[in-house]
Amino acid sequence: MSAPPSRNSVFRGVVALDGPSGTGKSTVARELARRLDAQYLDTGAMYRAVTVAVLRAGVDSDDAPAVAALVGGIEVLVSTDPARPSTRLDGRPVDEEIRSPETTRAVSAVSAVAAVREHLVAQQRSIIGRGATVAEGRDIGSVVWPDAELKVYLTASEAVRARRRAGELGGTDLNTVAAELRRRDDFDSSRAVSPLRRPDGATEVDTSALSIDEVVDLLENLARQSVSVASNG
Ligand code: DC
Repeated sequence: MSAPPSRNSVFRGVVALDGPSGTGKSTVARELARRLDAQYLDTGAMYRAVTVAVLRAGVDSDDAPAVAALVGGIEVLVSTDPARPSTRLDGRPVDEEIRSPETTRAVSAVSAVAAVREHLVAQQRSIIGRGATVAEGRDIGSVVWPDAELKVYLTASEAVRARRRAGELGGTDLNTVAAELRRRDDFDSSRAVSPLRRPDGATEVDTSALSIDEVVDLLENLARQSVSVASNG
């Protein structure tokens, strides 16, 4: 038996956090990164920034060749400080625009384009390669960083996810939010390239009945255990 992980032990690994929207992924990933003194990587923000560029250029998000042609000419930069997440497109902050309803509607189509994924996955690997990271997305444990010390797949019931999303958006009808969530999840799970799925070896955590703090406590323990097991074994 290995000793219980110490809260003070230094975490040097990678946590891959995947799952659909509304599972609390972003809030959990950020707080976990803060506790582990790790980088926080929001890969969804990167796909959203490319989507902003597509919309600004007046390109149809369903026109895959046109989207692919655009991605090489733009620069997406994300801050990995969990206290101050920010996303820049061609040098300018786009933190609000990446969360707009227009961006959210178009992002699934843009993120299904193979050239977009290749471009962003290369960038994500280079960021994660710099050191301890909590990375969140849809394909972190399956494609971006399959050797992560800890892989987690967050889920929650559809009703709970819709309620959480509606709370974030404020004032949007619950049925509309639920329909939009379902559309995006179906699209993200059925696309040909890197579909959303539970990665091999991932621990599934159903967050429906858990608070954010309870989820973070659980993952912090798993993360610290994973490195002590890795370094003992
Ligand atoms: O996590 P989010 O809602 O900000 O993600 C926005 C979209 O980006 C989501 O609908 C699917 C896509 N995405 C992806 O395909 N792969 C990732 N690693 C992260 C997000």
